[in-house]
Amino acid sequence: MAFDFDTVPDRRGTSSMKWDKDGGRDVIPLWVADMDFPGPAAVDRALRARIDRGVLGYTMPPVSLVAAVRDYLAGHFGWEIDPAWIVWLPGLVTGLNVACRAVGVPGDDVITATPVYPPFLTAPSHSGRRLVRVPMVADRDRWQWDFDRLEAAAGPRTRLLMLCSPHNPVGRVFSRGELEELVDWSVRHDVIICSDEIHCDLVLDPDRRHIPTATLGPAARDRTITLMAPSKTFNLPGLGCAFAVIAPPELRRRFRHAMAGIVPAVNLLGFAAAEAAYRHGWDWHAALLDVLRGNRDRVQSAVDAMPGLTTWPVEATYLAWIDARAAGIEDPAVVFEEGGVGLSNGTEFGLPGFVRLNFGCAPALLEKALGRMSTALGKRSGAPTA
Ligand SMILES: Cc1ncc(COP(=O)(O)O)c(C=O)c1O
Repeated sequence: MAFDFDTVPDRRGTSSMKWDKDGGRDVIPLWVADMDFPGPAAVDRALRARIDRGVLGYTMPPVSLVAAVRDYLAGHFGWEIDPAWIVWLPGLVTGLNVACRAVGVPGDDVITATPVYPPFLTAPSHSGRRLVRVPMVADRDRWQWDFDRLEAAAGPRTRLLMLCSPHNPVGRVFSRGELEELVDWSVRHDVIICSDEIHCDLVLDPDRRHIPTATLGPAARDRTITLMAPSKTFNLPGLGCAFAVIAPPELRRRFRHAMAGIVPAVNLLGFAAAEAAYRHGWDWHAALLDVLRGNRDRVQSAVDAMPGLTTWPVEATYLAWIDARAAGIEDPAVVFEEGGVGLSNGTEFGLPGFVRLNFGCAPALLEKALGRMSTALGKRSGAPTA
């Protein structure tokens, strides 16, 4: 079946966070992590069918959706779960914040590796926990955990490790060895792992495979809160449907307790879309990955040709992490925005001088944006544009 990933949909005037933030200015928005593609047709049909039934009352998680999630986890990752392990959530950011509240007490330490998706940096303080940052290290090929610094960062009050896997923004798919080292560390220091795996279905590198942290053996299973959603996979983030998988009963009880009376239920359209996507969205998803691979390669070659910019191979996600510190500009996000391209500012991820580029869009729009970036850099340096 043919899918259309070339049309640029008109998202302005839809209260789109990505497209309507700039109030109609001519800025191509390549920032917040949603894609400019309609999701699978099966999702559209399921949403219409649900509306046609009328009466939009309170809703329970459909038994058939729970079965779809179990089949998905078993089929894609060889992960057999008990339905009781699933905790439905209106979003993963909610899950990150609930995890901080559910583990330990105020004053305890939460460790994360930086740079990282901004809510990892803010969630600990929302519940009176102390954020401890362990900077990742980069060579020409990839970003990695600094296990010596991680070891040194563990203290008597360390209770939680917030792991982003695959990693936003550095695009890594962590290997079994890397994940096992994190699990060994967490066992040694008796730390719970909150593993945000929202990007797990967006592995672009054919040589890599996503491994859910909790599947690494009984020790991992018994100390991991896994957060997942169909929202990045099928581009449904506006529908607010996500879930945690938590095997240990006591940890799950604490997680549910931290949610009680505060976290709303998932809405019925979110459930309907999730089930249709997990059951019928995979042809669309395979075509999506091909488009994203092409866009990733184009970003890599275009950025390589821009003086002063460095980027890394994106193993997963539709996000490129770009180092602009050698470009001789003070705030690259501002310079590119003035040049007509809206990128995420690295400062929000814990690393000033960097920007994050979302290439989940039609190739022609991406090309236009890359051209504008090159021109913006050229104007600043006075050099000819690449
Ligand atoms: C790593 C990561 N976690 C969570 C989210 C957001 O999740 P949600 O929209 O379900 O709150 C994002 C969105 O970009 C993300 O990249």
